[in-house]
Amino acid sequence: MDDRREYFESFAEEWDKNFIAEDLEILSDEIASFRIKPGWRVIDLGCGTGVLFDMLRRLVGPDGMVLGVDFASRMLQRARKNFPFDNCLVIDADAEQLPLKPESFDIAISFASFPHFAHHAKVMEEVARILKPGGGFYIMHLLSSKELNSHHHNAGGPVAMDQLPPQEAMIRLFDQSHFLKVTITDRPGLYLASGIKA
Ligand SMILES: C[S@@+](CC[C@H](N)C(=O)[O-])C[C@H]1O[C@@H](n2cnc3c(N)ncnc32)[C@H](O)[C@@H]1O
Repeated sequence: MDDRREYFESFAEEWDKNFIAEDLEILSDEIASFRIKPGWRVIDLGCGTGVLFDMLRRLVGPDGMVLGVDFASRMLQRARKNFPFDNCLVIDADAEQLPLKPESFDIAISFASFPHFAHHAKVMEEVARILKPGGGFYIMHLLSSKELNSHHHNAGGPVAMDQLPPQEAMIRLFDQSHFLKVTITDRPGLYLASGIKA
C-alpha cells in the first residue's frame, strides 16, 4: 500500500476548503487555453474531490465526458457527491495502471497530483497510451516548481519528498513517451507543463 493513499484519504473531508474563488478563476482561465471542445472525453488524473469537474463538464457538454481517476476512495466519494452529473464519472484506480482502452481520450490533465505519482515515467506511458493522437497532456499547479517543492517539504509525511522533476527531466519524460511540442511555464503562482501525443 502506498502511504500516500492513506495520507490523502485522511484529508478527503476537508479537501474542498483548500480552494478559494480566486484559485477557481485562475484554473478556469488556464483550462480555457486548452481549447477543450464539446463532445470531448477528458481524463483528470489524481482528481481528488473533483475541483476541476464543474469547469470541465461545462466545456465538454452533455455529449462529452469527464473521467476522474484517483486511488483514494474517500476523495472519490466526495467527488461523486459534489458533482452528481451524467457527464462526470470517477474510477478508483492507480494512475500508473489505467483500466482504460488505448486512444480513448482527447485530453489528459493532472492538476496538483503529478509529483505524488510514485513512478512518473509509468504515468507518462499510460497517458500516452490512452490519449488519441493529437491529444494534449497538461500538468498543472497553482505554484511554481520551487514553491511546490518547498510546500511538500513543509507538509512532511509521505509527501515530503514529492517533487516536480527539474525542467530537463520533465522534458525527457515527455520525450520518452513520444510527446511533441513540449512546453513548460514555471513562475510564481503557476506551473504548467504540456505535450501533444504524436
Ligand atoms: C494534492 S491531491 C490533488 C487533488 C485534486 N487534483 C485537487 O487539486 O484538488 C493529489 C491527489 O492525487 C491522488 N493520487 C496520488 N497518487 C496517485 C496514483 N498513483 N494514482 C491515482 N491517484 C493518485 C491522491 O489520492 C490525491 O487525491
